[in-house]
This record gives sequence, structure tokens and C-alpha cells, in this order.
Amino acid sequence: MEDILTLERVSKVYEPNITALDEVSFSVKRGEFLFITGPSGAGKSTLLNLIFRAEKPTSGEIYFEGRPLSSLKKKEVPFFRRKIGFVFQDFKLLENRSVFENVAISLEIQGIGEDEIRRRVLKILERLGLSGKETQPVRQLSGGEKQRVALARAIVNRPKLLLADEPTGNLDSRRTEEVMEIFEDLNAEGTTIILATHDEALYAERHRRVLVLDQGRLLNP
Ligand SMILES: Nc1ncnc2c1ncn2[C@@H]1O[C@H](COP(=O)(O)OP(=O)(O)OP(=O)(O)O)[C@@H](O)[C@H]1O
Ligand SMILES: [Mg+2]
Repeated sequence: MEDILTLERVSKVYEPNITALDEVSFSVKRGEFLFITGPSGAGKSTLLNLIFRAEKPTSGEIYFEGRPLSSLKKKEVPFFRRKIGFVFQDFKLLENRSVFENVAISLEIQGIGEDEIRRRVLKILERLGLSGKETQPVRQLSGGEKQRVALARAIVNRPKLLLADEPTGNLDSRRTEEVMEIFEDLNAEGTTIILATHDEALYAERHRRVLVLDQGRLLNP
């Protein structure tokens, strides 16, 4: 399989002098399920943010499907992001909107018809155990429910690449298992997944490639 993503000596320095990532290089094959781990502050979220083009590297280059992200024009960024699902560590949900609206938003922006949106959103909510919560404002949900809404929003668009930042951090062990099953299913359906976590239990015994970050450096490229 060809590489869907390549990082070449990517560094990110926050002013005045925090090196969040230090010359990180690796490639991800299409269809891979890759874990990124390392202690708090190692640079995991920074790495995912750079791949999503939420931020730009200080130096180095990121290639998605062969194209350098530095060549993306501003108006191309939303189209690029449609190929990528992102489960944010802090969810970034619209707290006053309903569960349904939060998941439907990315489809509405693309002008998909109302019936199709309804069908797809309800199906995803069911898959994530959120049936019955459709009309509830997100601010009334538990942390674990919000985490699953964030996942639903990230996958409803059927992204080629799914970036998940600590996606089970608020779930109990049973929900964690359920969500990991969903990641496995999505991966089996062809979605490339990069999952960042400090939780060893998530990748233990899964026999997937695990990259370890420490103070912005990759320990095992
Ligand atoms: N916007 C920012 N401005 C300044 N420093 C930042 C910024 N974002 C991250 N950092 C710093 O960069 C380093 C890496 O942070 P990052 O959030 O990527 O770590 P992480 O591995 O995701 O940690 P955690 O496991 O706690 O989520 C930290 O030292 C952090 O303080
Ligand atoms: Mg983080």
C-alpha cells in the first residue's frame, strides 16, 4: 500500500522557546492503524494539529496523499480537512446545540440533502450508543457522552484519515472497549487511523505500530 501521510523532519517551536516537536519524521500507509504515545507534554496533540493544518510547522514538511501541505492555499484548507476526521482532546462541540446538530454540521456545509443527513446522523448515533439523545443540548451531556458525540461528528463524513486525540480519556472501561471496537471496524472498512494516547492499555495486545514521543522527539522512528 502507498503512503497516505509523510512527515519530514517536522519541528514546531512555540515562542519564546518551547520545542513541542523536534525533527519528527515518519510515514503512514493507507489503511494503517497507528498509535502515538508518550507522556503529557510530549507533543502528541501538537503533532495531530499540524497534520490537520490547524497549525503550521516551524520547519519541515508534511505530505498528505503526496501533496505538501505548505502548498495548500487558504481557500483549499476546508476541502483538505473534509478528507480528515478529528476527535479533539477537548471535544470542541457547540455546547448549546443539540447532539444531532453537532454531528450534522459538517454534512450541511457540504450541501448534502436533508433526508440523507438525517439517515447518516441517526445511524452513527445509534452505532455510538447515543440513540434517544438526538435533541439534547450538548451542555447537558456527561463527559463520556460528549466524547462519543465528538467521535460521531468526526466519522459521519467517512474520512480517509481519522485523527483521534485521547478519544477514550473520559470513558469507563466498558465504553472504552466499545469505542475501540468502532475504531477497529472503521479501520477494517479502510479508514486510516492515527490515535494519540498516553494510555498503554489502548495499544497493548493490539499488535499495531506504536510511535513513542518524548519531549518532542520520536524515540522509535
Ligand atoms: N499553543 C501553544 N503555545 C505554547 N506552547 C504550547 C502550545 N501548545 C502546546 N504547547 C506546548 O508544547 C508541548 C507539547 O504539548 P502537547 O499538547 O502537544 O502535548 P501532549 O503530548 O498532547 O500532552 P497531553 O498528553 O497532556 O495531552 C507542551 O510543552 C505544551 O506546553
Ligand atoms: Mg494532548
